[in-house]
Amino acid sequence: MKVLLVGNGAREHAIAERLAQDCELYAVMSKKNPAIAQLAKQYWLCDIEDAAAVRKAIAGNEFDLGFASPDATLAAGVSDVLQAAGMFVASPSKAASRIEWDKGFMRAVLRRHGVKGSPLHEVVASSSDALRIIKDYGDVAVKPLGLTGGKGVKVSGDHFNSTEEAASYAYSLIEKDGNVLIEEKMVGEEFTLQAFCDGSRVSTMPPVQDHKRAFEGDIGANTGGMGSYSTGPLLPFIQQSDMDEAKKVLQDVIRAMKKEGSPFTGVLYGQFMVTAHGIRVVEFNARFGDPEAINVLSLLEGSLTDTFLSMAEGHLDAPAFSNDCTVVKYLVPEGYPEKPLKDAEVAVDSFGLEECRARIYYASVYENSGKIMTTGSRAFGILGRAATVAEAERISENGCGFVRGPVWHRKDIGTDALIQRRVDHVRSLRVKP
Ligand code: GLY
Repeated sequence: MKVLLVGNGAREHAIAERLAQDCELYAVMSKKNPAIAQLAKQYWLCDIEDAAAVRKAIAGNEFDLGFASPDATLAAGVSDVLQAAGMFVASPSKAASRIEWDKGFMRAVLRRHGVKGSPLHEVVASSSDALRIIKDYGDVAVKPLGLTGGKGVKVSGDHFNSTEEAASYAYSLIEKDGNVLIEEKMVGEEFTLQAFCDGSRVSTMPPVQDHKRAFEGDIGANTGGMGSYSTGPLLPFIQQSDMDEAKKVLQDVIRAMKKEGSPFTGVLYGQFMVTAHGIRVVEFNARFGDPEAINVLSLLEGSLTDTFLSMAEGHLDAPAFSNDCTVVKYLVPEGYPEKPLKDAEVAVDSFGLEECRARIYYASVYENSGKIMTTGSRAFGILGRAATVAEAERISENGCGFVRGPVWHRKDIGTDALIQRRVDHVRSLRVKP
């Protein structure tokens, strides 16, 4: 089977690795990811956020199945281009991926179809309305409606210390985008639940917790994600009833999108929060998470190609997952995220990584005369997988030592101490009336 993958990050490296196990893989990338290039029989380079450019790049070729991966690629309508080229497509159309690229639409869909989990929220287009809502809600999350690579959301307490600061950020977004989404601040612990979807059905993957803040102890700027862990069918701070609630929300969203006339085929990513009042929806993505894809795809039993095909054909075959634990730590360039070092050489000791049973996923790096260079964004995801999270963490941590050069990572991700903090936090919330 000939499968076309569009994307070139570490998430796509993880997808490519699984697809290449049982298909002939082809790739379209913005920049050459050396690992994907090696897995693919052929690849093309073009702007993957430009649907016409992707159409032109693959013209004259035929594929059985296609998967467009990154958010901006989906928002640009690349899945629609693949569909028009005559292949089965396992990623969402531009219309269906609106659940991610328009947060106002997402809240409206939930409201229209009675899907539970939204906090108080309002989309406003004037400064006076923004100020009124911020004063009304007290602590808030101020969100741009469109895609921001996970870096646009700002929250009272974390980023604002006053009504004025929150209002000032809301005004700046109104000036730039014409509107802003303001939500009541939610308090709790976030987790990611991803599901394969065929337009009607969902099949969930193991839950994962990502770490968005740049520095140890969850401080510093928001990033695309510094690392993540999973611990089997549940995370240590969530109960089966939380999972059941989150799964129901995903199923309800798929039903809602079908009724909206934009059936969702692809990977639906739910960002949930366990709060004192139950499960809340932070956001949805229309794709695998990065790094969460690396966690779950390492646990997938069976063929990703078959799962994608069953989604695209509308008869989802729910795959099984191992109950093992995983930890991913992202290596990022020195100075990241504020002033990342670009164009610096890094050396990967593949033998050392293999010896310590860690796996490496290439993110935003490029090759120059046979050397691997940083770009300024996250460089490599290092995966550890084992029967316990402590062992998975140790493998990932050891693996980080086999990439040499000006890169660093958060050492606390997946450690017992950090996980215990999550558990204690949720316990303290659950005892509140
Ligand atoms: N890990 C966050 C995201 O993929 O959006």
